[in-house]
Amino acid sequence: MSIKSLLASLLLISAASAQLSGHVGPTSSLSAKQVKTCSVLDYGGKVGSTDIGPAIQKAFDECVTKNSGSTLYVPAGNYGMQTWVTLKNGSKWAFRLDGLITRTATTGGNMIAIQGANDFEFYSANSAGGIQGAGYQCRNAGPRLIRMVKSTNFSVHDLILVDSPEFHLVVEAGSNGEVYNMAIRGADIGGSDGVDVWGTNHWIHDVEVTNRDECVTVKSPASNILVERIWCNQSGGSAIGSLSDGTAIEKIQYKNVYTNGGNQVFMIKSNKGSGYVRDVTLDTFMAHGTAYGLNIDQYWSSQTPGSGAGVALSDITFSNWIGYVNDGVARPPAQLICADGAPCTGITLKNMNLWSKTEKAVVKCESAYGSGLACIKSGTTHTAYSKVTQSISKPSGYVAPTVMPGDLKSGFATNAAIPTP
Ligand SMILES: *[C@@H]1O[C@H](CO)[C@@H](O)[C@H](O)[C@H]1NC(C)=O
Ligand SMILES: *[C@@H]1O[C@H](CO)[C@@H](O)[C@H](O)[C@H]1NC(C)=O
Ligand SMILES: *[C@@H]1O[C@H](CO)[C@@H](O)[C@H](O)[C@H]1NC(C)=O
Repeated sequence: MSIKSLLASLLLISAASAQLSGHVGPTSSLSAKQVKTCSVLDYGGKVGSTDIGPAIQKAFDECVTKNSGSTLYVPAGNYGMQTWVTLKNGSKWAFRLDGLITRTATTGGNMIAIQGANDFEFYSANSAGGIQGAGYQCRNAGPRLIRMVKSTNFSVHDLILVDSPEFHLVVEAGSNGEVYNMAIRGADIGGSDGVDVWGTNHWIHDVEVTNRDECVTVKSPASNILVERIWCNQSGGSAIGSLSDGTAIEKIQYKNVYTNGGNQVFMIKSNKGSGYVRDVTLDTFMAHGTAYGLNIDQYWSSQTPGSGAGVALSDITFSNWIGYVNDGVARPPAQLICADGAPCTGITLKNMNLWSKTEKAVVKCESAYGSGLACIKSGTTHTAYSKVTQSISKPSGYVAPTVMPGDLKSGFATNAAIPTP
């Protein structure tokens, strides 16, 4: 079964709405980009070659940029890659990657960076195209796989990304992007982010991530980002962060998120800093066996403190969560540790039914205002208060979360090849 139909059968399909501010994806159809085919085989590339990089760059420079409505084509087959490419300022074009490219150099940066693209589609037509990063050979000391830089009106879909030495897919700034039907399979170790996204008006949906770091995470600055139908299969969990000085994040929505194992269900993380995160909804989450549940930590110890008194979090709603953490006393199913220098306001928890495998749990609050959690304070005066820990009993709405078929019991090894699905 394809990832799309698998996700569709498990999670409620719903239309993009709410937090997007307009059209996402390419402005013209795929057929409008098939006026000219720029195949790497015509620009020095060969199936089985040890470095397809130069042929990709050449096909782009000498064919794509000279022909509006063209498709850069990497036919099915296996390729090595040692030379990274940056494909700049293309307009009305597609990158059809039907082959599997395997990383063979350890240079940092990005194997494929698409920069300043407009009306662009990056896809595989045979659902077999993608990149094998062989990250076990240079863990956290090699390239990222794909980076979309300051592009607009684009989509990235139906690609397989395996074992990146660093992050798998980064959407850096830009606007009107759509990322969907992606299978991302990283190692059970930190630094293996699935999708990191920032910018304006992006829709990330129907993505499966296996790793031990960010599943789909929003970074600053960002507005109008919709993330839905995300399967974090033995992943680190999703987040907003890390946040520091000058944070500007608003109108973010996550919906229908499934998390199996990992560090948290969802985290908002910062340490000191300034700016805001506001107008965020996180609706319909199902999780089992995570360490933390809902975790706002504005004193996150893994981060160097910013210079401001704290990032202000306001109008954030968590609704319809179900599942359990492993040890709810050691790591609460919900904790809202807000910055004393910028208390959280308008934090609303509705129908939150996270519980603990140990059948014992606490919740923790610090400088948090809103409703729906035993330790949160209400009221209109928002002064800092120190950490409160409170025992809770099993939420009345708790039922054991469904275990999805195909869940990984433990993650992939960090020091051995990860198979391409
Ligand atoms: C790409 O576009 C940017 C912004 O318009 C411009 O500054 C840059 O020179 C362009 N680069 C190329 C290689 O055309
Ligand atoms: C992106 O598409 C929208 C229409 O969907 C259009 O208004 C906008 O001008 C496009 N952006 C660019 C840079 O062409
Ligand atoms: C989770 O990962 C395992 C190992 O690759 C895989 O067998 C399973 O299909 C994945 N789950 C989903 C939903 O794809």
